[in-house]
This record gives sequence, structure tokens and C-alpha cells, in this order.
Amino acid sequence: MSNQFAQPTITTAQIRGLLLGTLPSDELASVQRNLKQLRREDVDLPTIFVGTGTCGLGAGAAYTLEAVKAYVAEHRMECHIVEVGCVGICSEEPLVEIQMPGRTRISFHHVTAPKVAPLFDAFFGGVVAEELSLYQIRKPGLQPWDGVGFMDKHPFFGPQTRWVLANCGIIDPKSLDEYVAWGGYEALAKTLAHHTPVEVIDIMEKSGLRGRGGGGFPAGRKWRLAQQTEGDQKYLICNADEGDPGAFMDRAVIEGDPHRLIEGMAIASYAIGASKAYVYIRAEYPLAIAHLKKAIAQATEAGLLGENILGSGFNLRLIIKMGAGAFVCGEETALMNSIEGKRGMPRPRPPYPAQSGLFGKPSCINNVETLANVPVVMGKGADWFGATGTAGSHGTKVFALSGKVSRTGLVEVAMGTTIRQIVFDVGGGIPNGKAYKAVQIGGPSGGCIPTQHLDIQVDYENLKTVGAMMGSGGLVVMDEDNCMVDIAKFFMDFIQRESCGKCIPCREGTRRMLEILNSITRSRRNETGVQALERFQGVVYMQQLAEVIRDTSLCGLGQTAPNPVLSTLRYFKDEYEAHIFERRCPSHACKELLTYSIQEEKCIGCTACARKCPTQAIMGTRKAPHYIVPDKCIACGSCAEACKFGAVHVA
Ligand SMILES: Cc1cc2nc3c(=O)[nH]c(=O)nc-3n(C[C@H](O)[C@H](O)[C@H](O)COP(=O)(O)O)c2cc1C
Repeated sequence: MSNQFAQPTITTAQIRGLLLGTLPSDELASVQRNLKQLRREDVDLPTIFVGTGTCGLGAGAAYTLEAVKAYVAEHRMECHIVEVGCVGICSEEPLVEIQMPGRTRISFHHVTAPKVAPLFDAFFGGVVAEELSLYQIRKPGLQPWDGVGFMDKHPFFGPQTRWVLANCGIIDPKSLDEYVAWGGYEALAKTLAHHTPVEVIDIMEKSGLRGRGGGGFPAGRKWRLAQQTEGDQKYLICNADEGDPGAFMDRAVIEGDPHRLIEGMAIASYAIGASKAYVYIRAEYPLAIAHLKKAIAQATEAGLLGENILGSGFNLRLIIKMGAGAFVCGEETALMNSIEGKRGMPRPRPPYPAQSGLFGKPSCINNVETLANVPVVMGKGADWFGATGTAGSHGTKVFALSGKVSRTGLVEVAMGTTIRQIVFDVGGGIPNGKAYKAVQIGGPSGGCIPTQHLDIQVDYENLKTVGAMMGSGGLVVMDEDNCMVDIAKFFMDFIQRESCGKCIPCREGTRRMLEILNSITRSRRNETGVQALERFQGVVYMQQLAEVIRDTSLCGLGQTAPNPVLSTLRYFKDEYEAHIFERRCPSHACKELLTYSIQEEKCIGCTACARKCPTQAIMGTRKAPHYIVPDKCIACGSCAEACKFGAVHVA
């Protein structure tokens, strides 16, 4: 937090005393007062919050922050300026929120640097800029702003159940005090004081928390396996590799609320008997790494990490290991190789990590979101946690909503919420009046969900019945302009480049699949007879090839590599057929398959298209209709862009 007027702080000794319940009553009263202020139940001075998570920074929040500071300095304002993480609604960044003494916290969106001064002039002059106001946060006892909706009624936030994201965008992620003020580390203190490791595992199993990294393996069961294996050293590993295209949940949690992850990791380490824990995080997440480093230092200083945590005798060292960003390094055995300093390649299982993991020792690997759920489970109890969700999938799931949807960002919903609710209620539907086509869920390992399954409930088992999977939480929305063959090609291209090359089915098979997809989306103009035969042969064998890759690859990367093709084939076979038999892309996305012609009745012979055509494929004289020589046309689309009369027809 940067400000010239200090906010209350609590000492590390007070934090320990508070968590252990050993603070003398007079000190407790003053600490409670400070905690109240840290929660901003009311503020003593105007408090300005700027969202400076990666999404905010991408939208210009660093300049917004500078403009805020400049305004404050220029007007000699007495105020606090607080940097917060992403609140979830990334498409509205940069976000600025203001809390005045006695008033609720109000949020403004799209506040780029030039808008700061006019917004503040109006606001501090008593006028709320209607076009920039987004919501206000309801708080009993504080006077609300007229004409501004509440966050809990906002279509994006209203349907959500924010447990993992509860603090994101609300608290200063660089402040341990603020995390503690919101109940942070209470679950750890309670766990260490009242539960044996086996009891913790029983609670986790009872809660039904399943791994949020993709597979959905029950967290408690995994912990028990690691706990029961004998070993002089055990490791807990947090998987923060987050390599799926379209996924950014883990990054936002670490950036916006790093202590939640540390608390979850401490509880998990205690349960399995680990004294060392690693966070494997990609180096491309510098802000998350910086926040995590700071949080680890703070927690260590406060005695929440390190030796004899909260006097319990439990020790834990937490180490950050930066990964180089290969997708396969998110696979647990490749990840362990990478931590060990070896090349990030998978190893066969068994042995499973719980038996012989990192450096050959019993290890347990969990995803960021799984571990961020742990303080919720231990704090609120297994029954409370299990009461939300479906029969087989308890709690919530965070999705990274992106693509052709009006509101993009991080969405945390109760398990059992339908895809329709996520896309149309939370996300606000498809922009520009276009029709929904599908969502790609679960990244490259996942599948797509077409219109007929929009009402499917988010649940590990349900999603499998329609050929998709929960995955880690990437949810990319596609509209009628997206070509599903092109989408399959995009993922196959990604997988093929990311295949580590260790096993043949994945290394060679994904390459062959990509060749087939390329061949059916490429122009046939210069194709030889042999190439045409190969193309048809490839198409005929595509399904079989996909099944062989799935069944024989060494790790999950290869085993799930054909999913995008199988899933799009299942629901959009007609699009494949149009590409293969008619050499046509119905969505007009595969550029090489487009055919261009000039409509005589609309062409006035202005020559704009002919002048732009890079291959001189357009013939005609001035003031007379032009025409395109098909053999010369490379389907670049320059003519359609150049024509001001809509005379170029694209099919
Ligand atoms: C190619 C590949 C990439 C993966 N990437 C990630 C990842 O980035 N983050 C993650 O948590 N799990 C990832 N996984 C799953 C992990 O192998 C592992 O199952 C997971 O971290 C276990 O945590 P959980 O039980 O909490 O879900 C990946 C798996 C594969 C096959």
C-alpha cells in the first residue's frame, strides 16, 4: 500500500497472539480495532483502490495509478492509495474504487489515466460519473450511493460464489495484516491446535474436495497416500505451471491473495508430514512470483512458516521454483524432473509421486486452486463445504472466461451451475448479435460444448458424458464466426509444438494429425495427385490415429491430445465434411478455402481492388466491371478490404 498517511498495523507478535488466543484483553481490544480498520468497515480518510493485477496493468492500470498519485499530490489530498489484485471482471479494467468515510466502496470501470482527473473532480465535488460507475459494495452501517447498483446484484458477480476469490481485488495482496484481518491463518492455527494429521485428512476426504488441476482426484485420498508412505523427507508441491491456453485462474489467485495459497500449503504439508514444500510457477508470471516471495517472507517473519509454527512443533520451508514455461512441465512427473534440474519430461507411473516422487521421496502434488480451497474447508468444516455443489463435485470452480463473450474474466461458481448461466448470465452472452456456437472447456486436453448441451451442469462426471472435461478452468467461448476445424487445428498445433518428444505416439502422432488438419484447411491449387491421395488417406484414418495416440501415449499430454479433434468431430462433423468434400469453410475462417468473385452489378470499375491485389489477379478496364482470375487469386482478401461498394463476394 502506498500512501503518506499510514494505516494501522499489527505486529507479528500480535498476529501470533491473536491466532493462538493468547492476547491479553486490553491489547486484544486495540488489535480488534485495528483489524476493523484493516477490513475497512469504515475508513478515516478517502481510500482509493487501483486494480494492478496483470490484467489491470495490461489495460493501462500503471498509468492510472500514476495519474491517481499525481491528482492526490496536486490537490494535497489526505487519503490512502491501495493497490489490489484482479476482482475478476477483467474486461472492465482499469478499475478504480473509492471508499469515503461513512460511505460504501464504489467501483469505477475503464478508468484510463486521462479519465482520472475528470472522474475525481466530479466525485470529490459530489457527483458520481454515471457512465463510469460499475457497482458499490454493500455494507450495513455505511451510506450507499444513489443510483449505483450493488456488487451482489451485478449480473457478473451476483450468480457467483466467491470462496477462493473472496479476497481478490478487495485486499492489498502485499499486506499480511489485511489477510489476517479477513480471517487469514485462522484455519491453520485451528488445524495445528486441534487436529492430528490423520484428522485433517479425514476432514478433507469428507469434504469431497477434488483436484482442480484437471483430473479431479480427491485431495484427501491423495494426501492419505502420501501420509501413509514411510519417508525421512516428504514434499508437498504446488503446481502453478498453468500452461493451458486460455487459463489464468492460478495466476490471479497468487497475485491477488498469495497468503491463501501459503495457508493451504501449510495445512497440506502438516497433513502429509512434509517439512519442505515447493511452488512450481512459470517464470512468465513475474507479478505473482513477486507477491508470493513477499508473502513467504512475511509469513516466515510472523512464525507462520519456518520452525515450530505457532508453537506446534511443525516446521515448513517454502521454496519457489520457477519453470521455463513448457506446457508438459505442468504434468506432475515432468514437473518433478524439472524441479530436480532435469529436462521436463514425464516418467511412467507407477511409481506414483506418493510412493516415490521428488528426489525419490514421497510427494504430493496439488494445484493452486485445490490448495487455496483448503483454508475454506478447514475453516468452515467438511459439511459446510460439501453442502455446495453436486453429488460428486463439491464446492466451487474458478473459470477463466474468455473469447466471444461480453464480459471476460475470472468467474467462481458453485459446482452444478450450467454453462448457459456462466456464458449468458455471468458473461453477458455473445456480443455483436452473433450466435453462440460452443465453449472450449479444459484447454488442449478438453472438449467443446455445443448449443444442445448448454444446460449441462458443471460437474466432473457430467462434463465427461458430453466428451468434455473440467480441466483446469479455461473456458473459451466461440460464436458463429469460429470454424471448429480451425479451433481443432489451433490446439493440435499447440500440442504438437509442446510435445516433449519422449514417446513416439505423441511426438509423431500429433504431427500427423496436424498435417491432416492443415491439408483440409489449405488451398488445393498446387496439389499433386499423390498429395491428394495422401490427404484423403489421412482423413480416412484420422479417427483411428486419434485413438492410437490416446491409448498409447506415455503421459496425459499425448493421452488427451486428440480430444479437441474428437470433440469437434463429434458435434461439428458437417464442418469437417464441408472442408473435405466441398473445399469450403462455412465460417469463412480458413482463409485459403475462400473464393473471391466480383459482382458485376455492384462494381463501378474504380480499380481500387486491382491496385491492392498482390498477384495481379484482377482484370478489367477503368469504369467497367472487373473480374478475378481464380488461378491467380491467393485468397488474401485485399480486394474485399479495398472495395468500398461491397462488390467483392466471398464464399
Ligand atoms: C500436459 C499436462 C499439463 C498439466 N498442467 C497442469 C498445470 O498447469 N497445473 C496443474 O495444476 N495441473 C496440471 N496438470 C495436471 C497435473 O499433472 C496434476 O494432475 C495436478 O497438478 C494435480 O493437482 P490436483 O490434484 O490438485 O488437481 C497437467 C497435466 C498434463 C498431462
